[in-house]
Amino acid sequence: MSLSRVTVTAVRNLHPVTISPSPRINILHGANGSGKTSLLEAIHLLGLARSFRSARLLPVIQYEQPVCTVFGQVQLADGRLSSLGVSRERQGEFQIRIDGQNARSAAQLAETLPLQLINPDSFRLLEGAPKIRRQFLDWGVFHVEPRFMSAWQRLQKALRQRNSWLRHGTLDAASQAAWDRELCLASDEIDTYRRAYIQALKPVFEKTLSELVELEGLTLSYYRGWDKDRELQEVLATSLPRDQQMGHTQSGPQRADLRLRLGAHNAADILSRGQQKLVVCALRIAQGHLVEKAKRGQCIYLVDDLPSELDEHHRRALCRLLEDLNCQVFITCVDHELLREGWRTETPVAMFHVEHGSITQTHDHQE
Ligand SMILES: Nc1ncnc2c1ncn2[C@@H]1O[C@H](COP(=O)(O)OP(=O)(O)OP(=O)(O)O)[C@@H](O)[C@H]1O
Ligand SMILES: [Mg+2]
Repeated sequence: MSLSRVTVTAVRNLHPVTISPSPRINILHGANGSGKTSLLEAIHLLGLARSFRSARLLPVIQYEQPVCTVFGQVQLADGRLSSLGVSRERQGEFQIRIDGQNARSAAQLAETLPLQLINPDSFRLLEGAPKIRRQFLDWGVFHVEPRFMSAWQRLQKALRQRNSWLRHGTLDAASQAAWDRELCLASDEIDTYRRAYIQALKPVFEKTLSELVELEGLTLSYYRGWDKDRELQEVLATSLPRDQQMGHTQSGPQRADLRLRLGAHNAADILSRGQQKLVVCALRIAQGHLVEKAKRGQCIYLVDDLPSELDEHHRRALCRLLEDLNCQVFITCVDHELLREGWRTETPVAMFHVEHGSITQTHDHQE
């Protein structure tokens, strides 16, 4: 699965443009502020209907313009073509279209266009709040386990009921017990999917990491959000007074986390910046392999400023792993000399020069 055409209008400083990317490696190079990250942001908008830079979409719309739009033609794994379009008006109207039809939700986009983003914010996967690691985990589970979404929705509903009851106590005991049962069932189901996912991810992650960087003793483990030896029902019963005091449920899958440790230490506390970047890349590349294995099409990788923090040896190792993924990859960099060489001759590499918001294709390996 890859984007065979992308049309961008009024996203940040980009002039209206249509590009025909290579199905494999695409390198966007240009000076600071030229618009490289903006193009990745446009593709991200197409896959997730949101930006990775601003919580709100308004700053993405070009100054003075009423609406920004991104269209993409996607070549699906089975060879069919699908067209996606997202547009966001300054007034707040958001539209998602898939094959000419208005789409119900952004989840449908995510299903068609699984994106992996590696950018300077990716460090937060190691050092940020558990929520970021849960999102990472659930992205993976969502793309390999079709039953996950409905279990997750059931959990959210049951949790809302319970938290509202904890705060206001407006539900009778029998109804609340029924909601708690539903909460526990959905939680166990989610835990099963997440656990199976981590079991599959771990060996792929370890292999990927070993090809990138030597970090003896780095371990990845999963915490499910409550005591591993007790049933959630029992945990909820014992923590009820505290939950009531806090006004929300303290234990459950909404508290799950991934732990990355190096020996006795939290990896984020001791790894260098470059090492952290490589660990995050290994995690994200491992996820891509699992999506591919689950035959749900491949992901598209957006790698913003690939060379930063990396020495030549590690930069080459990362490029090789991205190349071996057999995915479409969009890479940005300031100095394209760093990424020009080293690709296999059979890999189609397209290069785009970004200058003051204009994008020109300078090199296409296929030609
Ligand atoms: N809504 C907007 N409308 C017009 N221009 C914008 C808007 N938002 C940001 N810009 C400008 O767009 C330009 C492109 O920024 P972008 O982050 O894409 O650059 P870049 O090529 O990734 O640079 P760097 O190498 O520094 O990361 C910047 O000069 C920025 O000031
Ligand atoms: Mg940038």
